[in-house]
Amino acid sequence: MNLNFTKVAEDLINYGWHSSLDFFPNSLLEELRSTLLDLNENELFRPAKIGKGIKQKRVTEIRGDWIKWLSEAGDYPSTKIYLEIMNEFRLVLNRQLLMAATEFEAHFAIYPKDTFYKKHLDRHNNNPHRLITTTLYLNKDYQEEQGGSLVVEDLKQNHIVTLNPHWGRFVCFISSDFPHEVKTTTVKRYSLTGWMRSS
Ligand code: OGA
Ligand code: MN
Repeated sequence: MNLNFTKVAEDLINYGWHSSLDFFPNSLLEELRSTLLDLNENELFRPAKIGKGIKQKRVTEIRGDWIKWLSEAGDYPSTKIYLEIMNEFRLVLNRQLLMAATEFEAHFAIYPKDTFYKKHLDRHNNNPHRLITTTLYLNKDYQEEQGGSLVVEDLKQNHIVTLNPHWGRFVCFISSDFPHEVKTTTVKRYSLTGWMRSS
């Protein structure tokens, strides 16, 4: 596998974010999508909540996705390879961005038709350990009318970029610097989102 970690690291250094369509090989995307569908078939996804600990609650007016953490998903070759890649990537980022991320965590997400995730920051007082956000989209034959784009702003509310959840799109950004939202999707929307964490 010939993954261009350096290009992603350079974008993170220069702009704070990165997007590309060919970071992961197509064969791995196919396997990850099959794993997601398999987990969903077995009803292992749970409604995503907001807040932390006992204050966690489901608020569909804020986020409507269903998630499955890879750490709880059992042994799948696809997620094993994905986590190996992302942990190698973590070490590259630690070197290039002078970070000290000690782990990478990730969950599959399914946004049912007509759901969204309102504007938020991934790193905040409740969750101070997230350093880098990564998202990989697993939507075959994506069409613009399906919606579900990721809209990214900076901390001064300037629009930075709008990215559709196209098959294989890999997005990373510095978790503390980019408020973002997921626009309403008109079809089921599949993704694999993760964070490089400081602990
Ligand atoms: C998240 C999130 C973005 C996306 O899960 O925190 O912002 O495009 N996901 O799925
Ligand atoms: Mn987010």
